[in-house]
Amino acid sequence: MNFSDKIYIAGHKGMVGSAIYRSLKQKGYTNFVMRDSSELDLTNQEQVTSFFKEEKPDYVFLAAAKVGGIEANNTFRGQFLYENLMIQNNVIHLSYVCNVKKLLFFASSCIYPKFSEQPIREDYLLTDKLEPTNEPYAIAKIAGIKLCENYNRQYGCNFISVMPTNLYGPNDNYDLKHSHVLPALLRKFHDAKINDLRTVEVWGTGKPKREFLHVDDLANASIHLMQTYSGNVSVNIGTGIDMSIKELAELIKDIVGYKGAIVWNKSKPDGTPRKLLDVSLIHSLGWQHTIDINEGIKKVYFNKFLNEDKKGF
Ligand SMILES: NC(=O)c1ccc[n+]([C@@H]2O[C@H](COP(=O)([O-])OP(=O)(O)OC[C@H]3O[C@@H](n4cnc5c(N)ncnc54)[C@H](OP(=O)(O)O)[C@@H]3O)[C@@H](O)[C@H]2O)c1
Repeated sequence: MNFSDKIYIAGHKGMVGSAIYRSLKQKGYTNFVMRDSSELDLTNQEQVTSFFKEEKPDYVFLAAAKVGGIEANNTFRGQFLYENLMIQNNVIHLSYVCNVKKLLFFASSCIYPKFSEQPIREDYLLTDKLEPTNEPYAIAKIAGIKLCENYNRQYGCNFISVMPTNLYGPNDNYDLKHSHVLPALLRKFHDAKINDLRTVEVWGTGKPKREFLHVDDLANASIHLMQTYSGNVSVNIGTGIDMSIKELAELIKDIVGYKGAIVWNKSKPDGTPRKLLDVSLIHSLGWQHTIDINEGIKKVYFNKFLNEDKKGF
């Protein structure tokens, strides 16, 4: 990827897309093409066709998707399947038609089987049943990985895909109905602190274990793979370190400075019991994470919530 190559970041206003943009700009890349969903609806094949034929990007980061936590995935099941299939079919197919040099597709660690052996290696994909609450999203993402793989095999494309673990960082979604666990906990503890609430309810038992990666680390890993990796294995991107939701809740409670109690709502689903990625492949490809979880969460909290307070949140 040369500094002047034309780079299309699909989903550049989202958490992942905006991190890729920040990181590419910082590294010296200058030629970007970007459209938000109000300018280009990626589920619409005609619009995507015109866009690719006009802009002819050299490289594509496909970070546009319908994304959410357990509740959103389980409620909007049809939309998660349909919109994700449409977005990725259109962008991947038009990238082939318009001779894109290389495309990187973002899949997700939550599409591995629910009861995978741990840590999860890349070759565990499609070896057992999926987590039912996010099956539609997972089916769409698996189709995206397979589309990249089979366009490589049939047409000689250079399309790669990655499996990021749970992410956090700037431009995350803090809407409690649709967010992932880490931003949801930041929102809940912060709101409880400023409203002087005596308790904070957290979903599930607190026992499941999860791995978290700062999105700036993901952006650097993705750019590294775009520059150095070609192949059909969807590469895990994570820290290789996990913690229980209980440990996470206590860490966030501490960082926020909330003094009340945590109440566990055990009637809510826990989801997959453990989800830790085996990161030996990406380590062997020359990348490791750099942002420690304590520091990462502190940075996110102080930048997002304390600035919100200053703006009269
Ligand atoms: N967040 C995580 O923890 C996580 C973990 C693993 C993998 N990933 C993967 O990383 C990718 C990006 O996730 P994210 O967290 O950055 O999501 P996000 O913050 O919700 O951003 C998604 C982006 O997709 C765009 N988009 C959605 N529907 C669109 C449409 N019909 N047409 C055009 N653009 C559309 C949105 O554009 P507008 O803003 O313009 O609407 C938004 O910029 C996804 O593929 C996700 O599966 C995320």
